[in-house]
Amino acid sequence: MARKLWAKRGLAALATGAMAVSLAACGGGGAGGGAGGGAGDGEEGGLVGVAMPTETYERWVADGEAVKTGLEEAGYEVDMQFAGDDIPTQQQQIDSMINKGAEALIIASIDGTTLGSQLEAAGAAGIPVISYDRLIRDSENVDFYVTFDNFEVGVQQGTSLLTGLGILDENGEPAADAPEGPFNIELFAGSPDDNNAGFFFDGAMSVLQPYLDDGTLEVPSKQVEFGKVATQRWEQETAQERMENLLTSTYSKGDTTVDGVLAPADPLSRGIITALENVGYGEGDLEMPIVTGQDAEAASAKLIEDGKQYSTIFKDTRLLAEQAVTATTAYLEGNEPEANDTETYDNGVKVVPSYLLDTVIITKDNIQSELIDSGYLTAEEVASGQTD
Ligand code: BGC
Repeated sequence: MARKLWAKRGLAALATGAMAVSLAACGGGGAGGGAGGGAGDGEEGGLVGVAMPTETYERWVADGEAVKTGLEEAGYEVDMQFAGDDIPTQQQQIDSMINKGAEALIIASIDGTTLGSQLEAAGAAGIPVISYDRLIRDSENVDFYVTFDNFEVGVQQGTSLLTGLGILDENGEPAADAPEGPFNIELFAGSPDDNNAGFFFDGAMSVLQPYLDDGTLEVPSKQVEFGKVATQRWEQETAQERMENLLTSTYSKGDTTVDGVLAPADPLSRGIITALENVGYGEGDLEMPIVTGQDAEAASAKLIEDGKQYSTIFKDTRLLAEQAVTATTAYLEGNEPEANDTETYDNGVKVVPSYLLDTVIITKDNIQSELIDSGYLTAEEVASGQTD
């Protein structure tokens, strides 16, 4: 995978500083510190636990790989685990990381509310916890949050839906020659137990709602509440099934067609596109609706190239991983990581200091410049729809 290259480039400088600090920490007898072996053996900086939710989404595999490589290059030993989207498995994995003497934890939770006892144990042992991409909720023992601007991701999804429909121009401004509509759209949201899902949906609705209010957009199924349109555990099959049901219940008479679908993540977009293709969208006069996405997965980049998916949102997981390593290093050096947002992410107990990264709308026009030229995906991965 092209992403591997990043670790060498992006973290080389960081690694030098972190190494010196980790060694110093070992010398000082820091809790659970490693044996202080020779530079470059990846074990002198102590153990960091990295808990990732699932391997079924390409992005978490990329995140995991980038975080692990980054930490190792910075001189840490890494225990990285994927939990197969199973909450008890993730709880056990984190328990085991703590038992093995992890000095810091980086956690991308499955359900942000279910790690209470693990976080208490971490807090009691003075282990810093970095919430990765998804906010861990209802606990005091979350020290820092690295993520993207999740509300803005939703704004970008809604904006690209409007651009695809011709309502906005390529700059996100009302198009001079905008068709009148009304356009039929359907809405999908992510998993209700993922704090991000609400941010994405609210962001998208903040740009779509005025057009729903003035009648430019309509939702023929009338399913517009988050609770109605959410997709438990972000499962592709669940989204496909819901789209199939919508097509049967609302669009089967042939006088109403789907013009657009707000889809919050690429695998869900693909499930939705499959359901649409199965009833003939994309053939003859029945145009494929404008379908959004998120994560810039290779399979969806290919669908965008092929004109089946309209857009996705590029969240550069290499940069997120780098922030996670930076924050971990700061804590293990006895410092506080630098936050750029101290207001947005209230986890129910406290506002967690956060570092938010920017994201980019991807359409056919900028796959080359944003994804391929930056080395995030190779041209071969986009052409085949598969990462190696
Ligand atoms: C992430 C998205 C991802 C989704 C499903 C969210 O928390 O922010 O990037 O598509 O989970 O895995």
